[in-house]
Amino acid sequence: MNNRRSFFRKSAAIGFGAFGLNSLYNELHAESFSEAEKLWNDNGADNEDYWSVIQDAYTASKSDIIILNNGGVSPSPIAVQEALEKYNKAAAQGPSYYMWRIIDKGREPLRQRLARLGGCDAEEIAINRNATEALNTIIFGLPLEKGDEIIGTIQDYPNMIQAWKQREMRDGLVYKQLSFDFPIENDEQIVKAFADAVTPKTKIIHVTHIINWVGQIMPVKKICDMAHSKGIEVVVDGAHTFGLLDYKIPDLDCDYFGTSLHKFLSAPVGSGMMWIKKEKIEKIWPLLCNSQPKSKDIRKFETLGTRSFCIEQAIGEAINFQEGIGSKRKQERVHYLKKYWAEKALQIPGVKIHTSLKPEYSCAIAGVSIDGMKPEELDSKLMKDHQIHTVGINWENIHCVRVTPHVYTKISDLNKLVGALEKIAKKA
Ligand SMILES: Cc1ncc(COP(=O)(O)O)c(C=O)c1O
Repeated sequence: MNNRRSFFRKSAAIGFGAFGLNSLYNELHAESFSEAEKLWNDNGADNEDYWSVIQDAYTASKSDIIILNNGGVSPSPIAVQEALEKYNKAAAQGPSYYMWRIIDKGREPLRQRLARLGGCDAEEIAINRNATEALNTIIFGLPLEKGDEIIGTIQDYPNMIQAWKQREMRDGLVYKQLSFDFPIENDEQIVKAFADAVTPKTKIIHVTHIINWVGQIMPVKKICDMAHSKGIEVVVDGAHTFGLLDYKIPDLDCDYFGTSLHKFLSAPVGSGMMWIKKEKIEKIWPLLCNSQPKSKDIRKFETLGTRSFCIEQAIGEAINFQEGIGSKRKQERVHYLKKYWAEKALQIPGVKIHTSLKPEYSCAIAGVSIDGMKPEELDSKLMKDHQIHTVGINWENIHCVRVTPHVYTKISDLNKLVGALEKIAKKA
């Protein structure tokens, strides 16, 4: 009898842990965060005492190498790591019971909390594994016909470009790609380029909210306003903005939105989310089908087959952590970190920054290059000689090394980056 009671208590803790009083965030970080709160002041982006508490919540801040490719995938704070471990251990006792019948009971509360973070209705949120899955579901699910036109850019993410090209090949759609020379500090120029490409056959505009290669923030709301005035729908790739920029999904005024949660939200690798405006859910075909493909229920997109509900549930602790900091603070801090190193790097002879440093046009990401050196060479020197991990970018008209700090990045690490660039530029 006692054993059974403790079994049910344990099960409840496993399934609903992230949003209860016994959350790992509460256990591991809440106290230090509330102490740090006393150090906060209005101009907090450079408040190193406050941010050192956040840094300590990540094991990545103590890594042997300096991680500056958070645009690729971000590490998780300790609470998220431990949540994943806890759920995995529980599931290992018998996944068909613990994972499917206990842990999965946390899915609806998780949907609610993701919706709160996104400022939208929970009935518009589907939980999945990454932005590629979310956006491919939308791209392949849209009921488009031969001759219908889509406008995207050559600077969009390859997985989405390929999805549109496959639809073009298979269904006879016409996929047009614009090209931009970033950085651009003029929203109207970008909106006009999209508007000029519109024809009576244009049905969809595909926009990447932050261009992953070089960090440009695209004027999504203005593009949506223009598109809607012509009866065109907009698909937004928010892989680099959800959990980084301080916005709510409805602020964008788009129709479809997909993101990864393992980037700036710091949820476990393999977590993502799709948002579809409520009245449009019915017409989107699920990519992985179920018995109700024409349903208005967003859950029709979650028939993804057997997958890790442990990863999914650990997203809850990432949300707790995000809310413990606050989206506005996070955006301002990460922008500050980017500006900190990039402004110093700009003083080095031969160094070029490829990204606007204004907060309206970029946040975490900036591209850097050294005259006469290929991006892959600079990437490799930073790693080999300075143990700094970045990523060399050679994509269409963009050639630079992409540097992406996160909230756990220390100023001392950015000083090391600037020192390394100085040394490398001197020898170039
Ligand atoms: C702009 C953009 N969209 C989509 C993706 C795909 O994300 P995922 O690999 O998590 O599906 C990425 C990945 O870096 C990206 O940069």
